[in-house]
Amino acid sequence: MAKPSGDGRIRVGIIGSGAISQIIPLPILRQLREQFEIAALCDISAETMSILGVEYGVPAHAQFTDYRALCASDLVDAVLICPLGTHVPYAIEALKHGKHVLVEKPLTSRIDEADAFVAASHEAREKHGAVTLMAYMKRHDPGYQYAQRLVRPLADKGEIRFVEAHHIHSRNERYMDYFPVIRPSDIPDSARAAARAEHEAVLAAALGPNPDDQVAKCFGGMMGSSIHDVYTLSGLLGRPKSIIASEVWDDGHCWRAMFEFPNGAKVNYAWIDIRDVRRFQQEFACYGPDIRVSLTLAMPFIAGDASTVRVQQMEPSPADPAPYGRHDGTAHAGDIRPGIVVPGGEGWPAAGTAHTEKFVTPGFDNQFKREWQHFHACITRGVEPLVGAQEARDDTAFIIEWARATRGV
Ligand SMILES: NC(=O)c1ccc[n+]([C@@H]2O[C@H](COP(=O)([O-])OP(=O)(O)OC[C@H]3O[C@@H](n4cnc5c(N)ncnc54)[C@H](O)[C@@H]3O)[C@@H](O)[C@H]2O)c1
Repeated sequence: MAKPSGDGRIRVGIIGSGAISQIIPLPILRQLREQFEIAALCDISAETMSILGVEYGVPAHAQFTDYRALCASDLVDAVLICPLGTHVPYAIEALKHGKHVLVEKPLTSRIDEADAFVAASHEAREKHGAVTLMAYMKRHDPGYQYAQRLVRPLADKGEIRFVEAHHIHSRNERYMDYFPVIRPSDIPDSARAAARAEHEAVLAAALGPNPDDQVAKCFGGMMGSSIHDVYTLSGLLGRPKSIIASEVWDDGHCWRAMFEFPNGAKVNYAWIDIRDVRRFQQEFACYGPDIRVSLTLAMPFIAGDASTVRVQQMEPSPADPAPYGRHDGTAHAGDIRPGIVVPGGEGWPAAGTAHTEKFVTPGFDNQFKREWQHFHACITRGVEPLVGAQEARDDTAFIIEWARATRGV
């Protein structure tokens, strides 16, 4: 197992210092300063890095415009992979140098790349003890984990018959508006052209020639956003088995599907773009034999917003009303309100069972912070990573299959 060096903290390098890095990992790593050091940055924008370098104390010699140089550098023990587009070449390069990797979703939209990543992850584990963790942050959310403890055992016994899942999403700007994200002026045109070419190649590889226009549009959303629902559902139910039906409409802005999960669980799913309405909603209502568990996930970027779980069940009514009076109407010494007759007992209909509803907020701790703490435990204490390369590869394959099964309406 590779150990951190220097003062014992894990020295982190970040590849892709854009919006998400600025909003989430950089502030969180500063908060977790006893476990991590922000040791190096990498971006094709030197302007972005020089601003962030001042803010986070990363000197010029630790700012890289070439990710290969960061991966080869002795300055870092671990690398966060967070650019746009595929993450695989960056992750493989870091693993080759024995660095631990935390890889943002989505890994890639290409199955050949995903396979190469799995192989590189195994090899780096064998050779260097390097940890691979996929950044599936909702798996670290206290509300998700509470719901999973209730639902997963039922699903494994075949007792979850149905899940209603939806993800209501506003335009990204509606979430980003609150944060002072740097908008650099030095991104080369060649980088934009390369990103467009990568996108075209990905579409051709995943969907074949001349895909339906709406399917091509929603494929990025499935990979980039529905991936959160895919891994949430597979944590609750097991790996998805098949796509029963799937369609996209509203010029590629809305899609819905019916999935089959193991042991007969059916999932009715929708991803809806509500554009400017600033109300993110991500909900999973799971129906068991005598329980309904509804998980409402927090808005990820809003500090203090906590996920909640609603648990609905039947339970026996309180059996003995004696403190408030005898069933036969007689008074007895010690009764609180002698002589009051309440229904129950012999001669009365049975009290039966009552519907109960419990709202639970299992924790207010931040899911991203917990993810980094888990990453630290994987590196320093040999804890098994919660989400490894194989699961990311399987999610890539599933979403490609899903897009191929989707029709525009
Ligand atoms: N977990 C979440 O909830 C969540 C939310 C938003 C985004 N993300 C993921 O984070 C990643 C980044 O998204 P973003 O919104 O920050 O995008 P962004 O465009 O704001 O940032 C990407 C950064 O990568 C840089 N970059 C591009 N090519 C590079 C290269 N070859 N080497 C180094 N840097 C390079 C860009 O200059 C930019 O600064 C995406 O994969 C996205 O899916 C995750």
